[in-house]
Amino acid sequence: MSRWTWTLGLLAAGCTTRPAAPPVEARVAPLALPAPAPDLDPAPDAVRVRLTAERTSEAPLRYAYNGQRPGPVIRAKVGDRLTVELTNGLAAPTTIHWHGVQVPWAMDGVSWMGAPVPAGGQFSYEFNLLHPGTFWYHPHFDTEKQVDAGLYGLLIVDDPAEPAADDEVLLVFDADDEHRPATDDLPDGDPGRPAHGHGGRAARWTVNGEAGPVQWTGRGGQRVRVRMLNASNTGYLALTWPGLRQIAGDQGLLPAPQTPDVVVLAPGDRAEFEWLLGREGFTLDRLPWSLNGGRTYAEAEPLVDVVVEAPADAPAPLALPYPGGAPSADPPYSDLIYTFSGSDRTGVWLINGERFPDVTIDSVAVGQRPVLEIRNVSASHHPFHIHGMRFEILSIDGAPPPYRRVEDTIDVGIRQRVRVQLWPDEPGDWMAHCHLLPHADDGMMTVLRVRP
Ligand code: C2O
Ligand code: CU
Repeated sequence: MSRWTWTLGLLAAGCTTRPAAPPVEARVAPLALPAPAPDLDPAPDAVRVRLTAERTSEAPLRYAYNGQRPGPVIRAKVGDRLTVELTNGLAAPTTIHWHGVQVPWAMDGVSWMGAPVPAGGQFSYEFNLLHPGTFWYHPHFDTEKQVDAGLYGLLIVDDPAEPAADDEVLLVFDADDEHRPATDDLPDGDPGRPAHGHGGRAARWTVNGEAGPVQWTGRGGQRVRVRMLNASNTGYLALTWPGLRQIAGDQGLLPAPQTPDVVVLAPGDRAEFEWLLGREGFTLDRLPWSLNGGRTYAEAEPLVDVVVEAPADAPAPLALPYPGGAPSADPPYSDLIYTFSGSDRTGVWLINGERFPDVTIDSVAVGQRPVLEIRNVSASHHPFHIHGMRFEILSIDGAPPPYRRVEDTIDVGIRQRVRVQLWPDEPGDWMAHCHLLPHADDGMMTVLRVRP
């Protein structure tokens, strides 16, 4: 079409003409990876980092660690001693909880029995890293508000026995419409309280703090290790892309790589993937997903555009030391039962009919392998998370999982019955709760005592 006919076309379209959309490249921001926390300890088996929690904006309320959102990536290897010196620059108390990491109870950053770090105060968290994987950290005081305001970051524990990938991509997802008013004085159940992405309500997702879609560029022939975290308070992520290859879950490598069509990350979930770049780019899409019924029908939303420069044959996967192994047998008894109930209508969410902190504390002993059955009798999904220990999924609605899954956060669907074997190896009074943070705030939280 000549320039002249193009102009005629515009005239013919009359006053409704809009400027042509800019090329896609101009609209898509490049993916920025969260900056690492510098290691201040020169010793090879010790990592020491400093984190300062601060308010960066009043309205909307924004907090950040070291001015970054997501916070700095803490990186260490299995066997290292990690020290994190927290300075609380907020006007409120805070703590740091190490989600998915087996730490001594005093380092767990929960405040229901001990005092949080006061405004202006300092605390040094110190523990040994026992297991490799992609973990994360966030406050466990006024958790819903503080996480939502932006206090979270990745803690990556490398296993030096694993071959290195050619590149690494870190993707921390959050849903950006969740903010409570800064004053936080709305009563529970107040209609003015944000709906937190419940039902079909669309949340605006961010990738490493930027509104999606973002663009990442790699080269053909590269093997890229991709680590993802869903740091959202309430938003589930159903993700899909061509050639999806999952290599790890919450707690390190899967027994073998998996190639599902869609992977669902509940709030608090992590997973790792391999991108084997060949001749063509692809798009990582978010499929619509509802807390009250799973997959829904609406347009997919692109979150990450992967562009391939210098196309080449796709490489063979990394030879990672997959552990193999089948799921453990699901025994015909339970040692513990947690029944999840409640509703948005009442704004009350319960475990075993109890509302935290008025809860019955069950107890088990270090080294035991108790079977916990989680029964969800409510009309909402709930991601179950327990502190201080890992667990293996034994069955979901009576069926064993398709492969051996070791997790610290597991989605429990509507009317679903999930049975897990807990691996308590550290004494303490460990919190167990729904990781939809408003549900936890509204009472869906209990405590499991692990006796020495
Ligand atoms: Cu991610 Cu009790 O927390
Ligand atoms: Cu819940």
